[in-house]
Amino acid sequence: MSRDAVPPPVRLGDYRPPDWLVDTVHLDVRLHPSAARIVARLTMRPNPAGRAGSPIVLDGDELSLKAITLDGVPLAGTAYVVTPTALTLLAPPQRPLTLEIETVVNPSANTKLMGLYRSSGTYCTQCEAEGFRRITYFPDRPDVLAVYTTRIEAEREEAPVLLGNGNPVESGAVEGTSRHYAVWHDPWPKPCYLFALVGGRLDRITEDFVTATGKKVALGIYVEPGKTERAGYAMDALKRSMRWDEEVFGCEYDLDVFNIVAVADFNMGAMENKGLNIFNDKYVLASPQTATDADYANIEAIIAHEYFHNWTGNRITCRDWFQLCLKEGLTVFRDQEFSADARSRPVKRISDVRLLKGHQFPEDAGPLAHPVRPDSYREINNFYTATVYEKGAEVVRMLKTLLGEEGFRAGMDLYLDRHDGDAATVEDFLTCFADANGVDLTQFALWYAQSGTPQVTVSGSWDAAARSYRLDVVQTLPPTPGQSEKQPMLIPLAVGLVGPDGQDLPLTLDDGSNAERGVLLVTQPRQSFVFRDIAQRPVPSLNRGFSAPVKLSSDMSTADLLFLARHDSDPFNRFDAAQTIALGHLVEATAAARAGADLPAPDALVAALGATLDDGTLDPAFVAQALSIPSETDVAREIGEDVDPDAIHFARTTLRQAVSAALAPALEAAYIRHAPSGAYSPEAASAGQRALRNTCLDLLAAGGTAESLARAQAHFETADNMTDRFFALSLLAHAAPQAREAALAAFHERFRDDPLVVDKWMALQAQIAEPQALERVRGLTHHAAFAWSNPNRVRALIGSFAGLNPTQFHRIDGAGHELVADAVIDIDGRNPQLAARLLAAFKSWRSLEPVRRASAEAALRRVADKPGLSPDVTDIVGRSLG
Ligand code: ARG
Ligand code: ZN
Repeated sequence: MSRDAVPPPVRLGDYRPPDWLVDTVHLDVRLHPSAARIVARLTMRPNPAGRAGSPIVLDGDELSLKAITLDGVPLAGTAYVVTPTALTLLAPPQRPLTLEIETVVNPSANTKLMGLYRSSGTYCTQCEAEGFRRITYFPDRPDVLAVYTTRIEAEREEAPVLLGNGNPVESGAVEGTSRHYAVWHDPWPKPCYLFALVGGRLDRITEDFVTATGKKVALGIYVEPGKTERAGYAMDALKRSMRWDEEVFGCEYDLDVFNIVAVADFNMGAMENKGLNIFNDKYVLASPQTATDADYANIEAIIAHEYFHNWTGNRITCRDWFQLCLKEGLTVFRDQEFSADARSRPVKRISDVRLLKGHQFPEDAGPLAHPVRPDSYREINNFYTATVYEKGAEVVRMLKTLLGEEGFRAGMDLYLDRHDGDAATVEDFLTCFADANGVDLTQFALWYAQSGTPQVTVSGSWDAAARSYRLDVVQTLPPTPGQSEKQPMLIPLAVGLVGPDGQDLPLTLDDGSNAERGVLLVTQPRQSFVFRDIAQRPVPSLNRGFSAPVKLSSDMSTADLLFLARHDSDPFNRFDAAQTIALGHLVEATAAARAGADLPAPDALVAALGATLDDGTLDPAFVAQALSIPSETDVAREIGEDVDPDAIHFARTTLRQAVSAALAPALEAAYIRHAPSGAYSPEAASAGQRALRNTCLDLLAAGGTAESLARAQAHFETADNMTDRFFALSLLAHAAPQAREAALAAFHERFRDDPLVVDKWMALQAQIAEPQALERVRGLTHHAAFAWSNPNRVRALIGSFAGLNPTQFHRIDGAGHELVADAVIDIDGRNPQLAARLLAAFKSWRSLEPVRRASAEAALRRVADKPGLSPDVTDIVGRSLG
């Protein structure tokens, strides 16, 4: 292969079962900072479903092979071949056999954070997707399931805590040495990506959980010394998750212990290793002084997510990595439902949809678009995306919408029963729902195969004489990379017809049938639905609860949207109606700003927001969401092409000023009305109060009056929790340049020893929409608290700049693009996954206006031309430019 030859992509259509199976794995791991020694004893046998007479091909990556025996006999050098990516036994006997392989790896030099590495001195592992091959030679694919026994040995002084998968078996001193060991056994067959071990000096909190059938489980959360008091909320979330999964899905835990370890250096959020979840400490550690309400909500969701994987992911795993959404989409859906039950369901739905539109819609609309189940990849780590996770969850949600509560549960029950112990596929999953409900899901399955966001256009007409109402629906799916032709989708469109009194009218279709649960099944490119017995002109409420992840447009008037914002019985659409008004206004205002014309007056939006603010019956958390003005990224997405971020910023700032001026008395009253009573608590009701109060504070400050800024300053100084303190700090940093530096300094002084809080401080500065932001970011890369090696630090500073500061990332002089491209090139040498993720911030570059588009393209080309790029960055840059 020449230096620049790129290996061909992996294709779903090429799947073949493994030729060899592994039944048991015995690992003996002797931890050492620079030379950890791993002896792996594998019992293997030819797979009856594989190709007869095959060699044994084991994956490997950055391993040093020390010894290999077959059935206890050292292998002759001619019997095997070692390359940088594999160990191949050329002609193994075609019968069950035992291989013993000894490898040495260097955990301290492992900056990719895949395989066995060290985080602040703690030994830990990350094996998903393909990290186990960085520990030992192994068939590193999810359809090879084995039973693991792990012996871990270390210096007692260096690693007093030794944890593995499954249940603890024995532990003790290594006679005559300063070392000790622990043996763990996991009775449940699993793929190697679920393997984990931890060794370190850690503190812990413990609790017991008694399962539905009375089995006692010892729960442990391990954190850096001195941080145990910040683990309590995670423990509480864990216990609630365990109970919820029993009650809602009938899933009971299946080991004697369940451990969670928080580490400071981690590429992603967390990992569901069997019985030993390893977390980015950002999603475990929380105290009122250091974590915001949003942090608490994330911790609750991610603790639940990883725990729920025990069934959806571990007991039933994926046949191959194309099926990633099988575990991720389903598990995100499950964690969303858990949070909805624990908090406010409508507010949770609103924030989930905002996330989807903010991250997944742009992915679907740009060069990195891919189906929920991709059919080819060059680097699987680049497919842990919003499409696989969040759109994958929407697809499961649609299944529930189509089948109803009971039909969905019947399908899940069948899936959990039929496929327990399997490495399954999306087809297996869908077949369970089809079988349990006697339905055909062939068209529905297109949601997994076709990329892009469907565009649904609806127009309504009322026929007074016939007393009927007609909805004409048109669906299209734009072409996406690799998919020029599309088939029509099955779109479950939940609708309501709202009468003049605000009540929903009965939905009787002209054939006499009822639209079941208010859901219209759109299956054709164009389709009409006629409702009978509609005596007065109704206002249609479309895609209620965001029943389908589509881009909806309708001919609805502003007056009708205002009506829905006040009266819709569906809380999501109440929220969405006001957002639609705001977006429409901002698109128009942006165009006016670019043309140098006067900006339109936002009368309709002010009316909608004013009514929401005055409605005392609404949940404060809902009101906070409803009052939020769409982000600059939302507006850019709505505009779609020839985007000028400065014009959007100007239009949005002007709108916020106008809303502030128009609603000041009501905002002030709400700010006072929702003043805290009693001590801080992270639970949803009091978080909602804070969210509303802070939203009011923010809108008031948008007016820029001395009084409103003084109020923000006081809010900052008197805050007794991180939510209020950090919110006020952001406000001062964005809106009050004269108060900014003093507030930032005071905040830093107070929290300088707390890396997770310093991350917030850096992220905030990276988001200031002023030209100096670039120099500030550059300067902060030299700050003592910054480290290019730590993903949380990099994401806080560089990730926030690229993802959350559109005017400065897309500076017209190209300096923002250059800064991020330089960072990507630099980081790639150390941590390709992190670099690739950062580079994906360019995903919407083609929608920029020509000058900025050219500078983004130049930056991408500069990255592409760099010799020695990782496969991760090569893949992203190639598709981005492709
Ligand atoms: N399965 C993990 C989760 O959903 C994500 C791990 C991804 N890791 C990676 N290196 N791609 O929470
Ligand atoms: Zn997951």
